[in-house]
Amino acid sequence: MTRIGFAYNQKPNSPTEISSRSSGASSTSLSNASPASSLSGADEFAEWDSAETIAAVENALSPYGEVVRLEATADFPEKLRDARPDIVFNIAEGLGGPNRESHIPAICEFTGVPYTGSDPFTLTLCLDKARAKESLAFNRVPTPKFVVIRTPAQIGRAMDRLKYPVFVKPVHEGSSKGITEANYCQTPTDLMARAQALLSEYDQPVIAEEFLPGAEFTCGVLGNGEKARVLPLVAINFDALPENSLPIYGFEAKWIWDVPERPLQIFECPAKIDAPLQRAIERVALDAYQVTGCRDWARIDVRIDSAGVPNIIEINPLPGILPNPEENSCLPKAARAAGIGYDELIQSCLLAAAERYGLALARRHSPVAA
Ligand SMILES: Nc1ncnc2c1ncn2[C@@H]1O[C@H](COP(=O)(O)OP(=O)(O)OP(=O)(O)O)[C@@H](O)[C@H]1O
Ligand SMILES: [Mg+2]
Repeated sequence: MTRIGFAYNQKPNSPTEISSRSSGASSTSLSNASPASSLSGADEFAEWDSAETIAAVENALSPYGEVVRLEATADFPEKLRDARPDIVFNIAEGLGGPNRESHIPAICEFTGVPYTGSDPFTLTLCLDKARAKESLAFNRVPTPKFVVIRTPAQIGRAMDRLKYPVFVKPVHEGSSKGITEANYCQTPTDLMARAQALLSEYDQPVIAEEFLPGAEFTCGVLGNGEKARVLPLVAINFDALPENSLPIYGFEAKWIWDVPERPLQIFECPAKIDAPLQRAIERVALDAYQVTGCRDWARIDVRIDSAGVPNIIEINPLPGILPNPEENSCLPKAARAAGIGYDELIQSCLLAAAERYGLALARRHSPVAA
């Protein structure tokens, strides 16, 4: 029977669980800052998956083989060697550092084990917002004008190169870690203050980019090559945010204001937009997918500039896949709008990867007794 290794990082339930899960490594930050010293404090493990998501993915994979859990802790190489899976289904965000998302795929590649999703290069590229934007810009895929700030001394040169308002972001984070309303800078003085705070808090470069005033969308993409296809677009409905908040789908909107008990009506899917705009967004999303070398699946954030042109905000080759519809996870939501259920979404990634490797995966006809 096919053995499917399942690589993931599980969010700790409590602070005492943190050291055993990460084997001492800070999860995603490059600094040794403790959660308590963080700007928000709450975002240390925002990228990792919950027990519920992990169980849902495992369940979705099970019709295609025996699923072997391989938590992506420091002993992953030994676990992988012992488990000898035919393929690894990878959703591991990694333990830390700017290449953290590529560690598990790189280990799989090194040991010759097929794995789902993008390769180490694409994962590292897309986790560097500046490098990803360089690739897009070189290939004429629209993305906001930006400046990279590596040290406090470089903030000054960024201050007069961009049109305001400017938005600043840590270069290597995801799940809106370090992206709050405070990152919206209306003046060079705001930029100086916020860039300085982010540089010291996240211990990594910051990008300052021109703030796009238009509507925002996210676009799920499934498959590879000619078969890559976009899912129905998700529009971000900023009217759902609390009064007087900025039109930003950042940390507050994702993790503070939107809770399962009181879900924000933040998404409209399929987005109600005219056909030419829809086609333009889909085109730019597919272009970004191909230019950065994404495989099997991804979610691409797009925002409209002042001239009405869709621009790429970022590419997520390890998309969020929360199973509970109340939790407002974009890719499962977009899939549902296309008539693709949660299990089928997970399986589509597995099957796209298997096809790349020429691996025949057969669905089991009936549940196998334990
Ligand atoms: N240049 C910009 N102009 C306007 N809004 C922006 C810009 N950059 C980021 N934003 C806002 O901030 C949000 C978060 O930014 P971004 O998608 O880059 O961060 P992220 O934390 O990596 O997101 P994810 O949770 O999708 O991984 C965007 O969804 C958008 O609302
Ligand atoms: Mg995003």
